[in-house]
Amino acid sequence: MSLTYLISLPSYYLPLKMLELKEAPTLYQEIQHLKKEKNAVILAHYYMPPELQLIADKGGVADFIGDSLGLSVEATKVKEQNIIFCGVRFMAETAKILSPEKNVFIPDNDAGCSLASSITAQDVKNLKQKYPGVPVIAYVNTYATTKAECDICCTSRNALNIARSFDSDTLIFIPDVHMGRNLQKKITAETGKKLILWNGVCEVHEQFSEMSMKAFKEIYPNAEFLLHWEVPQEAVSASLDERKGVLGSTNDILKYVGESKSKQFILASECDLGATLKGMYPNKEFITPCIKCPQMKKINLENLLQTLESIGTEKASKYEICLDADTIRRASVPIKRMLKFV
Ligand code: 13P
Ligand code: SF4
Repeated sequence: MSLTYLISLPSYYLPLKMLELKEAPTLYQEIQHLKKEKNAVILAHYYMPPELQLIADKGGVADFIGDSLGLSVEATKVKEQNIIFCGVRFMAETAKILSPEKNVFIPDNDAGCSLASSITAQDVKNLKQKYPGVPVIAYVNTYATTKAECDICCTSRNALNIARSFDSDTLIFIPDVHMGRNLQKKITAETGKKLILWNGVCEVHEQFSEMSMKAFKEIYPNAEFLLHWEVPQEAVSASLDERKGVLGSTNDILKYVGESKSKQFILASECDLGATLKGMYPNKEFITPCIKCPQMKKINLENLLQTLESIGTEKASKYEICLDADTIRRASVPIKRMLKFV
C-alpha cells in the first residue's frame, strides 16, 4: 500500500448530530411511528451505518446503541414484545436466546460474519474429542448451534477476564486466530496459560497490515493508535511498539479516547466506529483507512422500515430469528455464564 493511497483515504466523520440535517426526516418519522404502533424496540451495534447510530431521542431511530456485550445485556431488559436487531445475525440470535419469549427480527437475515461462519458445532465436537477436558471459550461471534457445544462465551470486552477465571492451564479459544494470539500474549505473560486456537479471521480486521500501520505511524507522528483485539499481531506490534494507544475491545477504544490527552487517533477497527467516536469526541480527529464490514452494511433505514411494516403480517418470517427450543436451551448456558462477567 503506497503512502499516497493512505493519505487520500477518508480521515474524519461528521459529528452524529449533524446527520439529522442530511438524512431523509420522513423515513425517520415513519420508523418512529411504526415502532410505537408495533410495540418494537431497536437495538443497534456501533458498526451500523452512521444514520442508524443516531439515538431516538436525538431525532434518530435506535433506542440503544452499543457493543456486542452491551446489546446482549440490553436485550434481557427490554419491555417491548418485538426486538429489531440492527447488527449481524449472531448478535440477533444472542438476543433471541436471552429473550426466547420475544420476537426478534433482523432487517437482513443474510447479514453474517466471517468468524461465525468459520466454525460449526461439529468442529467444536472434534476439538473436544482431540483435547478432552479442556474448557472451550467461544467468542460471541459464533452461531447458536456452535455456542451450544461450548463451555462459556465471551465478547471482546470480557474475553480477558473470562480466560483468567479458569483454573485450567490450557484453554480452547474459538474462532478468531488473531484475537486469540493477542489474548494469548497477555494471558501467557500473566499466568502462563496456553490457548489452543481455531483458524477463523474477521474479514475486516485482518486487513490492517504491518505495512499500513507503519505508514500511518510515519505520516502521523503524534497520533495514538486504537486497535481492536481482532487485528493481526504484526499490525499490533507495528502500531504499539514505541507509540501510545490501546489494543482491546470496542468499549476499551471508546474509553481510551475519553481518557487520553491526545487530539489525534488512528482507528484500526470498523470504519463506522469512527462515527461513534466523532459523535462522542467532536474535538478529536480520527484517521482510518475506512474498512467497512460488508455484513453490517446490509442493514439500512429502508430494510429496517420494511421489517417494522412486516410485523404482524405473513412477511415477518423473512426477518424473524427462529431457533429450535433445544438450541436455545443449550446455547443459553454459555451465554448466561458470560453475562456474569459484564
Ligand atoms: P464488539 O464485541 O467489540 O462489539 O465487536 C463485535 C465485532 O463484530 C467485532 O468485529
Ligand atoms: Fe464479523 Fe468482522 Fe463484521 Fe465483526 S466486523 S461482524 S467480526 S466480519
